[in-house]
Amino acid sequence: MVRHFLDVDDLSVAELHEVLDTAAALKAGEYDTAPLAGESLTMVFEKPSTRTRVSFETGMTSLGGHAVFLGPDDIGLHGREPIKDIARVLSRYGSATMVRLFDHADAEEMAAYATAPVINGLTDDAHPCQTLADLLTIRDLFGDFDAEVAWVGDGNNVAQSFAVGAAMVGLDLTVATPDGYELDDEVLNRAAEYEGTVTTTDDPGQAVADADVVYTDVWISMGEEDRREQKLSAFDGFQVNAELVGDDAVVMHCLPAHRGEEITDGVLESERSVVWRQAENRKHAQCGLLVELLG
Ligand code: CP
Ligand code: NVA
Repeated sequence: MVRHFLDVDDLSVAELHEVLDTAAALKAGEYDTAPLAGESLTMVFEKPSTRTRVSFETGMTSLGGHAVFLGPDDIGLHGREPIKDIARVLSRYGSATMVRLFDHADAEEMAAYATAPVINGLTDDAHPCQTLADLLTIRDLFGDFDAEVAWVGDGNNVAQSFAVGAAMVGLDLTVATPDGYELDDEVLNRAAEYEGTVTTTDDPGQAVADADVVYTDVWISMGEEDRREQKLSAFDGFQVNAELVGDDAVVMHCLPAHRGEEITDGVLESERSVVWRQAENRKHAQCGLLVELLG
């Protein structure tokens, strides 16, 4: 059976820890092996990217393999060719296909037809590769997962995958979102199957009160530009700034950041911000995943 990675709970808890262990080992050993020599990863992007594209591309090179970038103008999803055809063709060239798409159902369709693993590099609903890097970062910082984490902001793709992944490793997570921007009930139900707890609130102060980690993401995600005014007003009071964060917690952000909106420049640039380590860990975490799926 083909193993896909459309969200973080496509891995078992044991496999998730295995991916993080491999990621940490690769990071420490500076990639002196070539476990994916001769393998190729095809990558289909409907949306822009810095971290996802470059971390997968350099990651494949570091593992001895190769990555092929296909942007919106190359492949013409929904226009030039249907997804089900693209899925079957790309599976015959590469060992896996990474997709960054708008509609999560399109990633599911890709997986339904692909005969090689499909890896979700972000859809409107989920960003599980980001979660792998986030968990690796928290493990780097605390040695394990004995930490209280607060999510402050939108209950978006990044938040949804993170909530499930956090629950899988046993973190205690409090999610503060404004009315109308909560995590999906379906996501909360999936998270509830695991050891960690996910508590929800509409009060950012309550979420961060005991937090060791405060995590946020943009309020206006890719594709939501026309909802800007409505969302800016809904998220009033949810900015991660010095007053909210206090003196103790570290601050995470998946990037790109919109300074002055969901986070202040001062907090993002402060010593408590671990965003660059988090971005670097995208590469190590995804290499761990690629070895798990293809190695
Ligand atoms: N965090 C993240 O996925 O960044 P990109 O959109 O630049 O890939
Ligand atoms: N929520 C953001 C994440 C970007 C990595 C978006 O979807 O645009």
